[in-house]
Amino acid sequence: MTEKAQNKNIIFVKTYRWDPEKNEKPYLSTYPVDLSECGPMVLDALIKIKNEQDTTLTFRRSCREGICGSCAMNIDGSNTLACIKRIEPDKQEIQIYPLPHMFVIKDLVPDFSNFYAQYKSIEPWMKRKDNDDLNKEIYQSKEHRNRLDGLYECILCACCSTSCPSYWWNSDKYLGPAILLQAYRWISDSRDQYTKERLRDLEDPFKLYRCHTILNCTKTCPKNLNPAKAIADIKRNISVFL
Ligand code: SF4
Ligand code: SF4
Ligand code: FES
Repeated sequence: MTEKAQNKNIIFVKTYRWDPEKNEKPYLSTYPVDLSECGPMVLDALIKIKNEQDTTLTFRRSCREGICGSCAMNIDGSNTLACIKRIEPDKQEIQIYPLPHMFVIKDLVPDFSNFYAQYKSIEPWMKRKDNDDLNKEIYQSKEHRNRLDGLYECILCACCSTSCPSYWWNSDKYLGPAILLQAYRWISDSRDQYTKERLRDLEDPFKLYRCHTILNCTKTCPKNLNPAKAIADIKRNISVFL
């Protein structure tokens, strides 16, 4: 009889471990967690393990409510946010790995350097050609504001990009779904005056056209956004406006 069967409240949390300062290969650590003394989410279990069993277990977290994007990891084969991923009560174990195909800094902490450099490359801020009075508001109609729905909510967790096979193999050149959705957020903003320049910059066989509409990105997004649609919309805008 498994321990789970003997005690219905125990779940085994298996996590990927790797410490660059130790001369050893990656391995899995298994921690029993009593769910009757733990919050309902996977992040609650990780925090409990770190507090009570193994202070060396390393992972990122901040907001604990699906807003900061820092607790993104691969849980039972899917990229998601540990703080809003419920522990399924009938499960015997949970397997947790870092986001796939990223360099690992330690344990569940991936290196976001390339991802952030790509974000910076799309110039994610409002750009104006008019010599605006900076104290004046730039108005937007309700209709124009509505165009940002489904885009502004992105928390840059990278769950989508790291589930995209095209991004796995070409992340040095392909921007990936998260950054392209962010790019489209600025292309869609009626207050930005660099729409054509932004589209021209993306019209590139690697930056944009590595997307083959596999849709893993949309399937995995923990905020229920649709980066694959944003990419299709960028392509459509390029064909219409350039
Ligand atoms: S739709 Fe495009 S961006 Fe999304 S997973 Fe597929 S190839 Fe990647
Ligand atoms: S589109 Fe979704 S999965 Fe991708 S970075 Fe934004 S919130 Fe995360
Ligand atoms: S801790 Fe902020 S999104 Fe999970």
